[in-house]
Amino acid sequence: MTSLKTKVIHGGISTDRTTGAVSVPIYQTSTYKQNGLGQPKEYEYSRSGNPTRHALEELIADLEGGVQGFAFSSGLAGIHAVLSLFSTGDHIILADDVYGGTFRLMDKVLTKTGIIYDLVDLSNLEDLKAAFKAETKAVYFETPSNPLLKVLDIKEISSIAKAHNALTLVDNTFATPYLQQPIALGADIVLHSATKYLGGHSDVVAGLVTTNSNELASEIGFLQNSIGAVLGPQDSWLVQRGIKTLALRMEAHSANAQKIAEFLEASQAVSKVYYPGLVNHEGHEIAKKQMTAFGGMISFELTDENAVKNFVENLRYFTLAESLGGVESLIEVPAVMTHASIPKELREEIGIKDGLIRLSVGVEALEDLLTDLKEALEKE
Ligand SMILES: Cc1ncc(COP(=O)(O)O)c(C=O)c1O
Repeated sequence: MTSLKTKVIHGGISTDRTTGAVSVPIYQTSTYKQNGLGQPKEYEYSRSGNPTRHALEELIADLEGGVQGFAFSSGLAGIHAVLSLFSTGDHIILADDVYGGTFRLMDKVLTKTGIIYDLVDLSNLEDLKAAFKAETKAVYFETPSNPLLKVLDIKEISSIAKAHNALTLVDNTFATPYLQQPIALGADIVLHSATKYLGGHSDVVAGLVTTNSNELASEIGFLQNSIGAVLGPQDSWLVQRGIKTLALRMEAHSANAQKIAEFLEASQAVSKVYYPGLVNHEGHEIAKKQMTAFGGMISFELTDENAVKNFVENLRYFTLAESLGGVESLIEVPAVMTHASIPKELREEIGIKDGLIRLSVGVEALEDLLTDLKEALEKE
């Protein structure tokens, strides 16, 4: 079997079919000349298909072990298309700490179409089993989750979902296919904010989806074309270029994050660290089983919650910004930034405290990142 390290470079359609160009060109066109009336060629209109986007779609399917891939104009556009598989009366079990935007889409947009949902702590499998109703059609979660780095057992959850005739939908944004393969563990649909590690350079907003089923692929393809939030050719090219170095980057992110998590854990100024690579992290054993490394995301709490503002503003290499997964290190406070769309009472219930800080550890020199954190903690 070809290694993922090779697949990120040679997977999908890695050379241009027409010219042999080793970097698939940006086919900046909206339409295609037809052979004759009623005789279109392979592509007829760029919402329904574009060669640059197609190369990326084949690549994500190849990397995740799916049958077909789909590229969207954002991660949320992909999530929206997938959740449009469901309709009035359908019930979805949603992990209780999904990304704020995913929660908002479900709570404020999809419920208008008559879809119902329950938020469930999926690390408790008994709670999951108890949450199924006759109308339950899917279980949706991230692992590791954003921002609490909760690790959920994909194999166990998907087998429980199957027993209830429900689909398992996994947002694999934090791990990427390089660290975790949800379809091989039983998931039906895998989703990505490709804005993050897949793009890898904080220069593109994109979403990717793939599935293990031809039937689901045909439905998702229909929804992608019908809703129309497709990824443009320039952005498709950028994501493909990013993916070529995914293996190198994920190894570097994970190595840096492990050391930084250990440093934070040992610091007096830090009261709690959430990182799946730490042996005392609740999901460490599951992470060891289903991931090849623990990724670049860390969340933590300061002993003095009032020091958060000074701390995040006193760093040199950790830029205060939303998003994650780029080569540069970023820092943010979920309660006021990425997860502000979740009401405060609910955030508190699920453990996203106002003082929680999230790091996206980049691939800079570890010494510089450690010095930066150390100095900012001392200044606090
Ligand atoms: C885990 C996760 N899923 C989905 C999304 C949404 O993706 P996008 O911002 O590309 O629409 C995000 C964005 O932060 C995310 O962190």
